Amino acid sequence: MISFNQAAVAAHDGATILHPVSLTLTEQRVSIIGANGSGKSTLARLINGLVEPSAGSVTVRELDTVTDGAAVRRAVGFVFTDPSAQLIMPTAIEDVELSLRREHRDSGERRAAALSALARFGLDGFAERSVHALSGGQQQLLAIATVLATDPQILVTDEPTTLLDLRNTRLIGDLLLGLPQQVVIVTHNLELAERADRTLVVEQGRVVFDGAPAAAIAHYRASAASA
Ligand SMILES: Nc1ncnc2c1ncn2[C@@H]1O[C@H](COP(=O)(O)OP(=O)(O)O)[C@@H](O)[C@H]1O
Ligand SMILES: [Mg+2]
Repeated sequence: MISFNQAAVAAHDGATILHPVSLTLTEQRVSIIGANGSGKSTLARLINGLVEPSAGSVTVRELDTVTDGAAVRRAVGFVFTDPSAQLIMPTAIEDVELSLRREHRDSGERRAAALSALARFGLDGFAERSVHALSGGQQQLLAIATVLATDPQILVTDEPTTLLDLRNTRLIGDLLLGLPQQVVIVTHNLELAERADRTLVVEQGRVVFDGAPAAAIAHYRASAASA
């Protein structure tokens, strides 16, 4: 469960990035849609404390994202649009091992756990492969595998399919929507957004619609058409 309690975000110069928002997300799959620069990433980043509210608060399963930041980040995995922002080790398995350093202090156990995390996504054959030698879809899959290796309770993904072709978009979408944990997906892919249980539409720093995905998409289309 994710709760925004009058949470707002201001820029350093005092400009409002996100107006106060209060809502509680309990649905398994939540999508966030809206125009470029509307505040979607800010909203998503609040969930794991990557962005801290300048007013109000955000809690994840009763944990405050500011005062319990470390615990929140263990509970909430975050996947960036661009896997290269996240994949920093030379090989695929080393990236997963890095993410597992806290869970497994023993290097042999860590390697075994990393291999099984790769296998879960069909990437075990790429363990020793340079991250740069993977396709865009494989890199995104690896970024997700790396984050999921620690078994976070919630997964937040910011435009996970933006850099992907149709086939990989479908693959990653199916994977995210099929996960057992709560998933929050920021996306411009309306087909993917529509497969959520609940959709938030963000416009100029405000959540202007919150409800059923089909109705949310209709709202977004109408406001884009009149802009
Ligand atoms: N740290 C910041 N300082 C100043 N402006 C910011 C900062 N972060 C985001 N913004 C601005 O706030 C708005 C919303 O940004 P963002 O949440 O990244 O939007 P989206 O993900 O919907 O494209 C944009 O106009 C962006 O330029
Ligand atoms: Mg964004």
